[in-house]
Amino acid sequence: MSDIWNKLERNLAAAGDRRILSLFDDPERFGTFSAETDGMLLDISKTNIDGDALSLLIRLAETTGVANKRDAMFRGEKINVTEDRAVLHSALRAPASDPLMVDGKDVRPPIAETLRRMERFAEDIRSGWITSATGQSFTNVINIGIGGSDLGPAMAVRALAPFHDGPRCHFISNVDGADAADTLRDLDPRRTLVVVASKTFTTIETMTNANTVLKWLRAALGEGAVSHLAAVSTALDKTADMGIAPDRVFGFADWVGGRYSLWGPVGLPIMLAVGPEGFREFLSGSHAMDRHFQDAPLNQNLPVLLGLVGIWHRNICNYPTRAVLPYDQRLARLPAYLQQLDMESNGKGVTIDGQDLPRPSGPVVWGEPGTNGQHAFYQLLHQGTEVVPAEFLIAAESHEPDLMEHHDLLKANCLAQSEALMIGRSFETANEIAAGLGFEGDERQVQAAHRTFEGNRPSVTLAYPKLTPFTLGQIIALYEHRVFVEGVIWGINSFDQWGVELGKELANALLPMVRGAPAQGKDASTQGLLRKLSGCGHR
Ligand code: F6P
Repeated sequence: MSDIWNKLERNLAAAGDRRILSLFDDPERFGTFSAETDGMLLDISKTNIDGDALSLLIRLAETTGVANKRDAMFRGEKINVTEDRAVLHSALRAPASDPLMVDGKDVRPPIAETLRRMERFAEDIRSGWITSATGQSFTNVINIGIGGSDLGPAMAVRALAPFHDGPRCHFISNVDGADAADTLRDLDPRRTLVVVASKTFTTIETMTNANTVLKWLRAALGEGAVSHLAAVSTALDKTADMGIAPDRVFGFADWVGGRYSLWGPVGLPIMLAVGPEGFREFLSGSHAMDRHFQDAPLNQNLPVLLGLVGIWHRNICNYPTRAVLPYDQRLARLPAYLQQLDMESNGKGVTIDGQDLPRPSGPVVWGEPGTNGQHAFYQLLHQGTEVVPAEFLIAAESHEPDLMEHHDLLKANCLAQSEALMIGRSFETANEIAAGLGFEGDERQVQAAHRTFEGNRPSVTLAYPKLTPFTLGQIIALYEHRVFVEGVIWGINSFDQWGVELGKELANALLPMVRGAPAQGKDASTQGLLRKLSGCGHR
C-alpha cells in the first residue's frame, strides 16, 4: 500500500507546476472527472488530479478495503471498536425490509415503530390535536441539545424553510445563558413545546438549559409545565427522572452516533417544521445516496470520489484545511454541521490498533455561504500563501421564481469563483491592467504584482436541481460517506470522540474553583485567569 502512496507523491512531483487548466486539453475531462446520481452532479475536474492519479487513488480505496468496510457497516458489524458498537444510522433511513440483526435482535421493527410514533406526535402537534396546558395549539418549538443533538436539526430546519408549514422551531445549545435568555425573550410559554434532545441525557449544557427552560415554563404554567416537554434520548430512565411522560419520549439505539443522529428522533424538529411527508422525503434522499454508495463503481461513486479528492489534497498536496462554500443561503449552517461530522469523526491521531498515524488525518473544515464569503475571506483563497481547496455547492433552481435575477447572479458568482481560483491572472495581464490604469515604471510593476493571482487552486462543485428535502438528504449522506471513505483510508475509527472528554472532566473540576474554592494544583495561568474572572481581582 505504501507503494501506492509513493506513486501518488511521484505523480504530483512529476506534474511540477502543471496548470489544472491544461488538463482540459483532454476534451473528455469534464465527463471523466465528474459523476452523477439522482440528478446530483459532483465535478472534480478542477483539481490537479490526472488520469493516473485517479487510478492510483481508486487503487488506494480498493487496497484499504473501502468497499468491504462499507459493506460491514451496512451489515451492522461493530466497526466502532473502541465503543464496541455497530454504526447503523443508515438503518434509520432505509425502508423496512429484510431483518437487520444487531446483538441477535432485528432492529427494523423498533425503528419503524419509533418513526410511526414520531409521525403521530408531530401530526398531533401540527394539527393542534395535542394542546398546551392552557388548551391552545403549540405555535413554537424549542429544541434543547448540543453537538449532534442540535447541529443537524438546526441546519436542516433552516435549509428547508420553503417547506415549513408547522410551528416555528428555535434552538438552544450553548451553556452561555445568553442563548436561553435571547431565545426565551420573544416566546410565549403557554404556546411553546420544548424538546430536550440528548443521546446520553447527561450533557451538562443540555441539562442546564433544560432546567432553565423548565423553570420558565413552570413560572407561567405551574404543574402544567411538564406537559410541554418531550424528549429524544437513548437514556429512558433519565428522561423519566425529568418527569417527561413516556409517550413523549422518543428513543434510539446506541449504534446511532450523535453526529449521525438527525435521521431518527433527533430529527423531530425537522418533522415538526415540514411534516412527516417532508421528513420521509428527506430520508429517501439519504437512502438513495446510501444505495448509490453501495452499488456504484468506485470511479463513478460520489462519496468515494469526494473522499479521494480529500485524501489527495490532505496527504499528497499537504493542504491543512478545506473550505465548504454553499452558494445557498439556506445552507448557512452546513459548514458548522460538517465541522462536527468531519472533525469529530476524523480528527484522530492513532489507527484503529492504537498506533500513531503515519500521515496526517482530518483537515480543518470551515466555510460560509457565498456570495457573503467573497466579501470576507476569499481574498486569502485567491492570493493568500496557503492553498485552500474549495467545495462549492449550488442549485440549478431556486425557490424564488420572482427573484430569478438573484439566482442568476448567484450561479454566475459561484462559477466565477471556481474559474478564478483555477485560471488566476498572470503578471503580464496584471501589468497591462496597471498600464491601462496609468501606472508607469516601477510603480506599474508594484501595482501589477498586487493584481496578480497565481491561480491553479483546486475546487470541486456539487450541483443539484433544487434544495428540497430529498436533495438535502442526499447532500448530508454524501458527506457522511465521504468522511467514512477518508477514515477507512487513514485506518482510523471515525465513530468515537474521546478527544472531547478531557475538557469536560477539567470543567467539572474547575466549577468549584470558579465559585470560590481554592485553585490548588492549577498552573499559574489558570490561577491568574480564575482571579481575573472572579470579578474582584483577588481570591
Ligand atoms: O461533545 C461530544 C458529544 O458527545 C457529541 O458527540 C454529541 O453529539 C454531543 O456531545 C451531545 O451529546 P448528547 O446528545 O449525549 O447530549
